[in-house]
Amino acid sequence: MAAQSIGSLAGEDERYIKVRQGEVRVGEPLPWDVFDPNDNLLLSEGTVVSTEKQLERLLAEGLYRRLRRTNRESVASAGRDPITGNATNPFGRVSELMQRLHGFLNRLASGEVDDAEVRGLRLAGALRNLVERDADATLGASHLDRDYHYVYSHALYSALLTDLVGRRLGLDEERRDTMLAAAITANIGMHRLQQELVSQSAPLTQEQRKAIQGHPLVSTEILRRSGVTSDPWLEIVLQHHERLDGEGYPRGIAGDDFLVEARIVAIADRYHAMVSGREYRQGLVPRSALKKLFMEDGGAIDNELAQIFIKELGFFPPGSFVTLASGECGLVVRRTGDVSAPEVAVIRGADGQPYMEPLLRPTNTERHAIKGLQSTPTKLPFHLGHIWGYD
Ligand SMILES: [Fe+2]
Repeated sequence: MAAQSIGSLAGEDERYIKVRQGEVRVGEPLPWDVFDPNDNLLLSEGTVVSTEKQLERLLAEGLYRRLRRTNRESVASAGRDPITGNATNPFGRVSELMQRLHGFLNRLASGEVDDAEVRGLRLAGALRNLVERDADATLGASHLDRDYHYVYSHALYSALLTDLVGRRLGLDEERRDTMLAAAITANIGMHRLQQELVSQSAPLTQEQRKAIQGHPLVSTEILRRSGVTSDPWLEIVLQHHERLDGEGYPRGIAGDDFLVEARIVAIADRYHAMVSGREYRQGLVPRSALKKLFMEDGGAIDNELAQIFIKELGFFPPGSFVTLASGECGLVVRRTGDVSAPEVAVIRGADGQPYMEPLLRPTNTERHAIKGLQSTPTKLPFHLGHIWGYD
């Protein structure tokens, strides 16, 4: 335990946060160790607070717990990294990267870039850092973000998803960055058409169909002309619509003939397209998209990779809006080792009334087990950064 007091620690790197009213209940085992303001362990995980009076006293004196994070970085308050100047809140960082990606793809589509390999890999590295910083918040953003045009958000979030799978498979940084760069540029060959299709609910015209079938080839041509010389990058882009059964395009190659990175991009691309709403339809809730990915796409995608994808995201990926056995509703914020019991920030009580603050609930208890899945409300009472503990 640090010699410093928790009060000052909380101010400096927030490794500890104050336990809020409602997070601990009388008669229920504590989900974490709790500490007093002077860093002394008061009660161990699993201890039951037996009376209301005891609980009141503890809360009045100040009760702290360690902030559990999947990343190793401390949680910084919303603001900027003093060295890099980048946003420390991952949701703010997403916004910065989205703007960079927006400019990059537009210039690339207009033929104004001649160093696409350098720029694309730099962007890929920044995206990889975002996943390293807080993969759960990044996943949350991928499911909840409605601030950006689909063409750009789809490119960015599918790329981030490929990195999560690549990590799980043990692909090294260089391969993952190439895959990320390929994922963000794979559809550059139909950049303008993609923008039209976002609002088109009518069936595709013959001309559009032809353009779609040809876009992997056009994308590689644009990339080559813009300075991309990396064969794996170009090949992933060329292969990202091929299918295991050979029914894909543009070449109809099958089975072992295509790269694992291209299969990962294909899965991330399908999944993110399913969870994203368009102007004419709502997106699927993450669990339904995962089921669909696994159940209905036989022959199209690599099932083994799809299983890895589901294990990585969990049955209720961060960003899913769920109801608990207690009747409370909230957002999944963090994955745990248990795919069916992530950590949830509840924002509404069983009586339907919003809470003053999001409350974190581990869901591995009977009382707080996840019981249902809902569409995310269009308006949340807190900023995403706040729900994920960033301000
Ligand atoms: Fe594509």
